[in-house]
Amino acid sequence: MCGIVGYIGARSAPDVVMGGLKKLEYRGYDSAGVAVLKNGRFSIRRNSGKLHYLEETLRERPLSGHIAIGHTRWATHGAPTEANAHPHMSMNGRIVVVHNGIVENFIPLRDELQAEGVVFQSDTDTEVIVQLVERYVEAGEGLETAVRYTIAQLKGASAIVVVSRDNPNVMYCARLGNAGGIAIGLGEDEIFLASDIPAILEYTRDMIFLENRQMARLERDGCHVTDLEGVPMAVETHRIAWDPVSAAKGEYKHFMQKEIFDQPRAIIDTIGGRVDFENGTVSLPEMNLTPELVGNIKKLIIIACGTSYYSGLVGKVMIESIARLPTEVVYASEFRYADPIVDEETAVLTITQSGETADTLAAAELAKSRGATMWTIVNALGSQSMRLSHGHISMHAGPEIGVASTKAFTTSLVDQYMLACVLGQMRGTVTPEQGRELVAGLAQLPDLVGQALEQDEAYAALASRFYKTENFLYLGRGANYPVAREGALKLKEISYIHAEGYPAGEMKHGPIALIDETMPVFAVVTQDHLYDKMISQVRQAKARGGVVIAVATAGDEVIGGEVDYVVTVPLAPPLLAPVVNVIPMQLFAYHVAVRRGADVDQPRNLAKSVTVE
Ligand code: G6P
Repeated sequence: MCGIVGYIGARSAPDVVMGGLKKLEYRGYDSAGVAVLKNGRFSIRRNSGKLHYLEETLRERPLSGHIAIGHTRWATHGAPTEANAHPHMSMNGRIVVVHNGIVENFIPLRDELQAEGVVFQSDTDTEVIVQLVERYVEAGEGLETAVRYTIAQLKGASAIVVVSRDNPNVMYCARLGNAGGIAIGLGEDEIFLASDIPAILEYTRDMIFLENRQMARLERDGCHVTDLEGVPMAVETHRIAWDPVSAAKGEYKHFMQKEIFDQPRAIIDTIGGRVDFENGTVSLPEMNLTPELVGNIKKLIIIACGTSYYSGLVGKVMIESIARLPTEVVYASEFRYADPIVDEETAVLTITQSGETADTLAAAELAKSRGATMWTIVNALGSQSMRLSHGHISMHAGPEIGVASTKAFTTSLVDQYMLACVLGQMRGTVTPEQGRELVAGLAQLPDLVGQALEQDEAYAALASRFYKTENFLYLGRGANYPVAREGALKLKEISYIHAEGYPAGEMKHGPIALIDETMPVFAVVTQDHLYDKMISQVRQAKARGGVVIAVATAGDEVIGGEVDYVVTVPLAPPLLAPVVNVIPMQLFAYHVAVRRGADVDQPRNLAKSVTVE
């Protein structure tokens, strides 16, 4: 995950930026850089590795000035080298840019610019942004228009900051999708910008948060926010409380809400540095996979608890479909007492946000003692689960404080998808062409999740209709069956509403007896090979007087005639669709809990990390 800081004002701009970057270093630490504009010239210092290398460089070759931007990087495109570190400068030295996110279409944009004679200095997707802005400026456009034209060409979720040597007192920033936020801090004749408020909170408590598809012009005396067409937008200034908890929640009421909205950023970080979009390959070096090891594995067992277990159920579909490796998914609490069939030809994958769940660790110890190769997908680095494993994949979700898990679910899905791709590459079940298609799906994902989050108000409205309901049935099929179970779990956990998640085809074998007008059905009916089957199951529920809410693909014109309520999600590649389709489940449960006055972040009887049996 990357961190951005910017400053214009009377203080030493590089010092403000470096101080802010230190507070954001947790977001990315493979390289860092800072650019200062002074006397019509940019001076840039960049280093690979952690921030203290950049600090050393700045001690040796100091910078001074009153307008600066800086960045800590977590690589997505291109190795973590100095050349790939931000800020990036345009070919003629006119424009400087820092960027968080992924430019999905950077390959055609780069090819186009190269054909026009632009010489690229890095392997990053970001460099197309800075070169595009310069191209428009050189064609005679003003900086603001050039930024706008550039953004219009970018696909994917991005947060961008642009400075030009021709406009020495101005900084532009823009947010496209949900690649992490931009907080603008308003001071007395000075202005700050950061991807997260702790970076600038020591200077000001008055913040404006840029929404999706907004851009802002920053000057010392304030900021002017527009949409991407340049139409001025009214914005609210938030006064942030000083206490660390409120500061950490920022613009959100609850940690769970913040974590739901953090998912596009978290997914970008999970993908970061692991995917080669040009060659269609994925690499997971911390898994320590060798051809001999993978060749020897005959089956995979996924072990987890709670939300992580449901993540494993989706992972099974991904791994079996992409890598054709037989996979079972077992609750850790069951596995540990089941005398399981495990040997040297078995790989066991634990999924655990905390890395400390007692049942998961006990199950892992048992599997390990029987000779299994141990892998783990984990959020808390350095946890016991990592120590027990031969290889691991980090979720890169960042701290998850809300007890009900959200971003650990979606990032662990992305990790399993990448694992499926790697195993597929090594087992020869994925051709290079298929590999390119699989990773292209990953590049779209942060933006698709961002689009689903934009429907937030629809869930708030739905929650106001259903918050007094006491029973719910969630239905899905294929990769979306676990999404239904996760949806039901979310509602149970934070709203204390009884909810069951079921594979839709099984409804006729029992749950259908429960359906009447008091037990609504929440069904995932998105466009995939099981769409027609889902429609017929929805009809069965309707025929029994059921009230049906459908999560449907945007643009589906049929579904409205079949169900009572429709919420939409964008179309996603089938194996990645659960990452998008779970967003409605999370937002609906969140809004219902808020309506019911429940303690969203610390629901009764539950714990974030269950370290007892
Ligand atoms: C607890 C939490 C859940 C979590 C489960 C597994 O029950 O409340 O949100 O899914 O533990 O936790 P883990 O850290 O192993 O993923």
